[in-house]
Amino acid sequence: MEGNAGRNYHARVEPASRVGERRPVTTLFADVVGSTGLAETMDPEEWAELIGDATTTMGKVVDRYGGRVSQVLGDGILAFFGVPVAHEDDPQRAVRAGLDLIREMRTYATSPQHPDGSLQVRVGLNTGSVVTRDVSLGGSSSDYTALGDAVNVAARLQAEAAPNTVLIGPTTYAFVSHSVNATPRGPLLLKGKATPIQAYEVTTWIGGQLRPSGVPGLSSPMVGRDAELSRLSRALRAVRAGRGRVAVLLGEPGIGKSRLTAELRRHATDPPVQWLETGCVSYGQEVPYALALGIVRAVLGLSDEEMDPAATRDRLMTALGSAASHVGPQMAQLLSLDLEPWEHEEVIGLAPDALRTGYIEGIGALLRSTVREPTVLVCEDVHWADEASVDLLAPLLRLVHELPILVMLLSRPERDVPGWRLIGATRDEFGDALVELRLAGLPEDQSRTLVGNLLVIESLPSATREYILARSEGNPLFVEEVIRMLIDRGLIRRDGERWIATEEVADVDIPDTIHGLLLARIDRLPPEIRRTLRVASVIGRQFPATVLADVVSGS
Ligand SMILES: Nc1ncnc2c1ncn2[C@@H]1O[C@H](COP(=O)(O)OP(=O)(O)OP(=O)(O)O)[C@@H](O)[C@H]1O
Ligand SMILES: [Mg+2]
Repeated sequence: MEGNAGRNYHARVEPASRVGERRPVTTLFADVVGSTGLAETMDPEEWAELIGDATTTMGKVVDRYGGRVSQVLGDGILAFFGVPVAHEDDPQRAVRAGLDLIREMRTYATSPQHPDGSLQVRVGLNTGSVVTRDVSLGGSSSDYTALGDAVNVAARLQAEAAPNTVLIGPTTYAFVSHSVNATPRGPLLLKGKATPIQAYEVTTWIGGQLRPSGVPGLSSPMVGRDAELSRLSRALRAVRAGRGRVAVLLGEPGIGKSRLTAELRRHATDPPVQWLETGCVSYGQEVPYALALGIVRAVLGLSDEEMDPAATRDRLMTALGSAASHVGPQMAQLLSLDLEPWEHEEVIGLAPDALRTGYIEGIGALLRSTVREPTVLVCEDVHWADEASVDLLAPLLRLVHELPILVMLLSRPERDVPGWRLIGATRDEFGDALVELRLAGLPEDQSRTLVGNLLVIESLPSATREYILARSEGNPLFVEEVIRMLIDRGLIRRDGERWIATEEVADVDIPDTIHGLLLARIDRLPPEIRRTLRVASVIGRQFPATVLADVVSGS
């Protein structure tokens, strides 16, 4: 990991032999409700067509979020998120797919071919370690299935779900709790399970941050990062004096880019600044204009929750001011608003280049009218920016010379993605005036302070403390996740004011959250390197993360 040369983070890379590979996977089961009864009312051909269309629709939704349909089960599907390719946000992707799936099936059920609207689905989701197997029958294509208790639980949850709802297990909930509205269901005693589990019915997706921050009940004040914070504060002072600035925050996952930004916000209250935030999601990289749209929504003050389209249109046209007359239609289309017939005419005839120029002009006009007072515009996770947005935003950076704005771009140091071009463009445009911060791991004394802060009155045996420090290599997220795992597994517990270790902490696995993160990177490697990692893991080697990081970054 960047800045941590010499320290060992022992990531055990699971073997992928013929007998399978153990990895965290989110399983999705979706099934048509009461199909036997429905089938009786239709002739068999009609029924087969209906179910064929329905499962195809479900498959498309799973594809959209990078999942993989493993089986079509008559009138339902079994899909996995995390195999064969892991993403660190697989649980989020699965939940969004579940919600979309219900929405699209609802639309499908009320479409002209099926006006009775009687087709409903149940969706069950669960996250957990499973053993994956390649069950392809030779040839070049691969088919994956996953086996394990976590998969069975997903099937049971689906059976328990009310029609047209998504029911998720406790582990999935832990990953998405901050991003959804959900109602607890249970504890449910599921068929074949000895102990009841807490399930949640997800109602809406509200978006926001990649992960819930920190470990519930534990928190630490900011540790270190004084120099970085003062450089950002200086940039903000320039902005208050009317001079625009761009700050780029680079660093590995979990190193503290978002936290540093939140800390700046906490300090930026006197006098207050206008604070606008948006970000990219990993499955948005393939969605043209996802980031540009995020910026437009932030600038217009639209929340992630649905807003009345008429009010959205009003706000857009007012903010565009005089530009509304010529770029209004394009901008309305970018926001997926229903277009007036004349607007439709206007947009449909535009060449891609003209459309792009319209967007640039439109976003420029929105920024000019919104940034009248000192403003911070934060773009999180730029490493997931989509190509089309990067093409729009690079020329818009020039506006920073005219407006009292601090644009903050947060990114992991990934050089082979479109977002990196945006980072490059800031260097070209601003040179020495650019505030570029590379966050390295915390030095060891600060990591110790962080562990001490999180566990309040830290009274752990030194072996446990050293275990946490060795496994985290200065990465605050890893510190938190290792502690979370020790708590979850009952290896440390609170005893009044103190934390005690209940047993010797031996060589337990890496936490699921970090496992997913590392797998996501390993899965992106060329097959030969992946194979080397796996071969080494089969013969029992553990990998210092520095080695892993070097391999991963290809250096
Ligand atoms: N200096 C710090 N002191 C205390 N806690 C920190 C510090 N830096 C980060 N943390 C905590 O560590 C966790 C991970 O940090 P953060 O989310 O900011 O990482 P990030 O760099 O934004 O990662 P990603 O690339 O995945 O978005 C958070 O819970 C955060 O509060
Ligand atoms: Mg972040």
